[in-house]
Amino acid sequence: MPVDASTALLCWYAVDKRLLPWRAEAGETPDPYRVWLSEIMLQQTTVAAVKPYFAAFTARWPTTEALAAAEDAEVMRAWAGLGYYARARNLLACARAVVAGHGGRFPEDEATLLKLPGIGPYTAAAIVAIGFGKRAVAVDGNVERVVSRLFAVKEQLPGSRKAIRALADRLVPEQGAGDVAQAMMDLGSAICTPRNPACPRCPLNAQCAAFAEGDPARYPVKAPKAARPRREGIAYWLEREGEVLLVRRPANGLLGGMLALPEAPPAKADWHEAGAVDHIFTHFELTMKLHCAETARGPDGIDRYDGLWWPVERIGEAGLPTLFAKLAARGLEWRDAA
Ligand code: ADE
Repeated sequence: MPVDASTALLCWYAVDKRLLPWRAEAGETPDPYRVWLSEIMLQQTTVAAVKPYFAAFTARWPTTEALAAAEDAEVMRAWAGLGYYARARNLLACARAVVAGHGGRFPEDEATLLKLPGIGPYTAAAIVAIGFGKRAVAVDGNVERVVSRLFAVKEQLPGSRKAIRALADRLVPEQGAGDVAQAMMDLGSAICTPRNPACPRCPLNAQCAAFAEGDPARYPVKAPKAARPRREGIAYWLEREGEVLLVRRPANGLLGGMLALPEAPPAKADWHEAGAVDHIFTHFELTMKLHCAETARGPDGIDRYDGLWWPVERIGEAGLPTLFAKLAARGLEWRDAA
C-alpha cells in the first residue's frame, strides 16, 4: 500500500531537514517573532543570504518590542544589501503595529495577520503553521513547484495558482502543518529543484505524476516572461574634506528610505566620469554611470547641501543598497587614482 504523500514527506523531513537558525529545535516552542522575521527576510532572497542578517537582527533586536523601538535609519542600515527595501520599512511598521495593536504578540490567525504591513497570504499562513503550529496552507515558489510536479498541473502559472493552492491544501494535515510547509521548502531546495531535480532521491517519487511522465522539470508550466527593459542613469560622488555627500531616498519607490548617492548633480563642479556599474532589478536592468568631483566649503562655511556628509573612510558602514555600494567602490577607485 503506498504511503500517502504528506507522511512520506514528514518522514523524510524528520531525518533530512536543514538546521536553520530560525527553526525551533525538537521539543522547543517556536518563537513567532523569529518565524515572522525569517519569513520576511526570505521573501525573494536565498537562505544563504538571509542567515547573517537574521543573526544580526535577532542579536540586536531579540523581540518584537525591541525592534518596534528601533530607529528607522538603524533598521534600514542593518537591512542594507538584502534588497527589496520596502520589506524593511514594512518590517518596522509591522513590529510597531503588533506592539501598539496586539500587546506585542503576533496574532494567531491568518485574517488578522493579513491586516499587518508586509504580511501577504503566504507569510500569514507560514506564521500560523510554523510559528503557532496550527493548520494553514503556506504556498511559496518551492511549494508551487513541488505541488505542480506531484500532480502534473498542466495549466500555466500564474493562472494555475488557485488550483495549486487547492492541491497543496490536500497535503496539509491537521497536526504538523508547519513541518509539511518546511518539508516542501527543503525538498524544493535540495531535491525538487527548478532544473535537474534529483528524483531518484525524492521521498515522493512513487506518487509523483510528473516523474511518471518522465520530464518533471517542465513543471511548473509558466507563461513566457517579458524581457526586462534597460535603463540608464548617473550617480554623483561629491567629496569635500574626506566626506562624501549622501541623500536619503524618498520613502516610496525604488530603494525607498535608503541612503544613496544623488542622481542629479548636487553642485556645479568639475565632474569626471569614473566608469559605470550594471545592476539587475526585478523589473528592469540598470546601467549607472558615476560622475565624481571634489568641492570645498564655501567662504561663509554655510552648508547648502541637502543631504548628509558621510566619512569616505567609513562608507562601508553607511548601509548603502548594493547598487550604490558598487558605485561607491568606483568612487573610492577614482579617489585613489586622483
Ligand atoms: N523559505 C521561506 N521560508 C522558509 C523556511 N521557513 N525554511 C526554509 N526556507 C524557507
